[in-house]
Order: sequence, then structure tokens, then C-alpha cells
Amino acid sequence: MCGIVGYVGAKEKKEILLDGLKELEYRGYDSAGIAVIEGNNLNSFKAVGKLENLVQKAKDFKADSFGVSIGHTRWATHGKPNELNAHPHLGKNSYVVHNGIIENYQELKKELIAKGVNFLSQTDTEVIVHLFEQNALDKEPFDAFKSTIDRLDGAYATLLITQGAPDTLFFAKNGSPMLIGFDGEDIYFASSDTAIIGKAKEVYYLEDGEYGYAKDGKVELFDANGKKSFTTKPLSSDKVSAQKDGYRFFMEKEIYEQTTVIADTMMGRVLESEIVLDELDSDFFDGINAIKICACGTSYHSALAASYLFERLAKVRCDVEIASEFRYKKPLLSDDTLFVTISQSGETADTLEALKMAKRAGLKSLSICNVDNSSIVRESDVALLTRAGIEKGVASTKAFATQTMLLWILALYVAQERQSISKDLIANEIDAMRHSPKVLKVTDELHAKMHRLSKRYLHGHGFFFIGRDIFFPLALEGALKLKEISYLHAEGYPAGEMKHGPIALADSNLFTVALMPKSLLYDKIKSNVEELSARDATILAISPLAFDLADDFVQTKYASHPMLEFFEMMVVTQLLALEISVRLGNDVDMPRNLAKSVTVE
Ligand code: AGP
Repeated sequence: MCGIVGYVGAKEKKEILLDGLKELEYRGYDSAGIAVIEGNNLNSFKAVGKLENLVQKAKDFKADSFGVSIGHTRWATHGKPNELNAHPHLGKNSYVVHNGIIENYQELKKELIAKGVNFLSQTDTEVIVHLFEQNALDKEPFDAFKSTIDRLDGAYATLLITQGAPDTLFFAKNGSPMLIGFDGEDIYFASSDTAIIGKAKEVYYLEDGEYGYAKDGKVELFDANGKKSFTTKPLSSDKVSAQKDGYRFFMEKEIYEQTTVIADTMMGRVLESEIVLDELDSDFFDGINAIKICACGTSYHSALAASYLFERLAKVRCDVEIASEFRYKKPLLSDDTLFVTISQSGETADTLEALKMAKRAGLKSLSICNVDNSSIVRESDVALLTRAGIEKGVASTKAFATQTMLLWILALYVAQERQSISKDLIANEIDAMRHSPKVLKVTDELHAKMHRLSKRYLHGHGFFFIGRDIFFPLALEGALKLKEISYLHAEGYPAGEMKHGPIALADSNLFTVALMPKSLLYDKIKSNVEELSARDATILAISPLAFDLADDFVQTKYASHPMLEFFEMMVVTQLLALEISVRLGNDVDMPRNLAKSVTVE
């Protein structure tokens, strides 16, 4: 949920830290801070709100002699987003930054207060620096750091610097992501590689339980078994800092990118007449009689859509779980079930823990993920990457589109391997897949229409998004997009369920966005919408077929296949949310209270 950076070397530190934090700001932006130790000089700056506030505060500061430095951008878990709770947290002469949750911090805090330690913040993190300084009273710095880490329960990626060892940066990783970057004598630390792309040439992705220190241009690494060697890998991607390229927001750019990234996701996998997945051994699905998919948020919605496809195409039983529910329900799991996790970031704590639970139960695991080397990718037996590129908008769009495409590909792959549907039907699915990039291309005409329409939906007492079959998960996703960036209440609902209660809300102030595909259950959804219209609900119908009871109508073009209608209607709902949010003057890319990667439960 937070972003951390670190640097050890003789280059100017402030810019290195701020550049890194800029790339991590999507992880959380309630406050930010940096701390630098150069010999006897200790400096630290912290600011509430966006990173720009910190940049202003530190604008006259320069740190260009040899030293150690750390930085942090925060999404509040304990304590309000204010300067006192901002990281780095200071002891007497040491600083710490941390991403995660220290689950036993209350107990540690009480122990430290009893020893006369004064706490300034309400955070769990502050216990780390005070515990370290207590341990350092009678231990060498590294031994003190190790004793500190040994006392922590919970998730942490933490960096600590101290005047007691001004040339050393201490680090530890457990449950939250962190990597180390190398470029000659310079050593970098970050929550994700985007923060050090263009700086480090080689990287090492830390594993849970690893800790150590950086000193004299080298890193000493340890785990529970003591000192360990490690091998780095090239930091391959060039500095792809997603610029807005003329779009108003990253989210807008990413909606327009869907047409290309969906093609990238299909590349080498959707051939003329067959599906190929090189990532999977030919016997990967042997012995698999069921699929359980686990995810959160938007990724949960692509999972729900996929469950219809796995049963309809692959003829494999498929059920879907919300990760935060799955973790604590004591689930019954059988080892003939393939456990699939879906995650854009690959760092979502609930999804990662659910995956670990399934692995402990002996299930085979496969992840659908957008970030290679992320925790979920590294924890899975196999990972299929969505190739959506960096998704900076907190509200997910192109990741959702590529997840859904990759799950469709996977369902068809299983159908092909098991011959569960005819070759003609497989060919029909492949043909539809190959049309998807065209369907996802945003036209000026559609965007202008959604801009005009949006002015009518800025008030009212809420929205229903309704659909049937795979359009029910799409209705959930359309509602989530609107909630996330407009802050208006919206609810996705199965169309057939409206008469079981929610229709009581129907009146002219209730906006209903109806997904009415021609190729799937049209008559059923049409009668559901007529019931709402008869009760004066305001209807925005999205359909290839004219529907004269609609107050607003968006005519879609592709009606040959449910998945093409799914993708086309997906773009309409994304643009609707975007344009309403713009009219309301909200921060489309960094909506309030949210973070791009939820790495705490
Ligand atoms: C998507 O618009 C949301 N920001 C959020 O629901 C997100 O999908 C969820 O937190 C899961 O994230 P993940 O895909 O990175 O695991």
C-alpha cells in the first residue's frame, strides 16, 4: 500500500529519492518523506498530501556527498494522514520507512513506553526505530537490527539508517514487496522496479524472511539460515514511465490503449486456428477437474466473467471467491482443483495470502498478472502475463480488459486440449478473439457522445448497472468504475434479481445503466428493463438494438459474439465513468481514499 525507496552512494540523493517516489506515488499518496545521513549530517523532510508538497519543502536541500538515504510515500493504515504519521520515523539518531502492517506493534509500543520511549505518531511503524535504538544500546548496529526484525510479526518491507552506522543501510522484507538495484558502487532499494528503472542495471527481488545491509558498494544478505549468496538479473525494461502522451489522464490513455494491449496479450497465443500457451506444460491440466479463481476488486470481476467461459467452453466446473472472504472461511479444497489468482499488481495482500493457503493445501496454482516478478507471480506454479503495460490509473481499465481476454484464451485452451467443444466452435471463438482489438478502438464519435450524456448523471440518488450472464460481472465492473472516480453511489446487479427487492428503489431519480446485448438473452434483459421503465426509472440503455423505452441510448455495433459485445460495452461504461468524474472535477487518476496496489489486508 505504501511505496519505499533507498539509495546508498555518492550521487545526489534527494533527486534519486524523489524520482523513485514519483514512480511509486500510485501506491499511496496520503503523505511522503525522505531522510538522508551523510557523515554527521542528518536531514529529513516530510509533507502531507501529494508528493509535490514534499518537493516544495525540500527544494533548497542538496545531498551530494557519500551517504545513505531513504524515502516513503504513504497510504494510511494506522493513524490519520498527517505530518506526524508520515514516514520516515525518527528515533534519536535513526530513521525508518516501512510498507506493511506490524501486527504486534501495540505490545511492542507498550514495552518501549515502559522503558521511557516517547512516541510522536499513531503508526505501527514507529516501533521499529525505537526498538532498534533500544537494541543498539548494547549491540552492534547490525545485531541490533536483526534483533529488531526478529520481534516483528506481520508484513514489512523496511529500510533503516542510523548515525551509529552512517555508511550502512539496513533492510528487511517479509510479506510486502521490495527489491535491490545495483549499478557499480551505487545500491538502490524500492517497492517495485519502476522506481529504479533507468538507474539500476541489475536487480535482486527479495524473498520473504530475507534481511541484511548495504555497505561499501556491497550487499550482505541473510535469512533464517544465516548468510546467503544471491544472483541478480538485468533490469530489462527501458524506462517506460507512462507519460500521458497528450491525454488528460492516465486512465483516459489506458482506455485508448486497450485496443493495442489486447492484441499484445493475444500475440503468440491466439494463432490462425489454435490457441498456444507456451507457459504451460502439455500435461498441466492433467488431473484437474475444477477451477477456483480468487481475486479482489476489478480482478474479481474478470474472474466472475471467466467462470461462465470455463464452464461453457472448457466444460470445467469453476467457482470464484473474493480473496478477503476466502482467507478466513476455512474453505474445503480438493487437490484436483486448479487455484487461479488474478491480480494487476501481483501484490494484493489478500490475494497473495489466499494463494499461499491453496498451496499449503497442495493445490496447483496459476496466476494471471500484469507485473512480472511480483509476489503473486513468484509464488505461483505458473504465471500468464497480461502484457497491459504499466497501468498508472488507480481505476483499472486495460488490466481488466487483458485479464478477461487472457482468461477467455485459457478457457478456450482447455476446451481445445480436452476437445470439449467442436473444432468449428473453437474456430468461431478464435475469430471473435481476433476481432477484439477493433471492437476496443475508441471512436471520437463514441467519446463525444459519452461526454454529452455525462452531464445528465451528476446527481440523483444512485445508479444501478444491470446485466445477465457475463454482463452481470460487467455491470459490477461498470458500477465500480463509476464509484471509484465519481464518488457517486452505484451498484452492479443481476438483471433478473431486480424484482426481488431493488426495484423498490425505481423512480425518476434512479439511474439504471442496462447492458442489453443482442447475442445473449436479449429478450430476458429487455423485459427486466421494461419493468424498471414502467416504474419511471431513468434508463441508459447500451445495445446494438434500438430500445425506445430508454431515456438515453448508446447504440453499439458488434453483435456477432457475446465477448465482442462485452468488450464494446465495457468501453462505454469506462468512458461514462471518466466523463462524469471529469465534470465533477475529481482526480481521475488518484481518486480519494484509494491506492493502486492494496498490499495490506
Ligand atoms: C480497480 O479499479 C480497483 N482499483 C481495485 O478494485 C483493484 O482491482 C483491486 O485492488 C485488485 O488489485 P489487483 O488486481 O492489483 O490485485
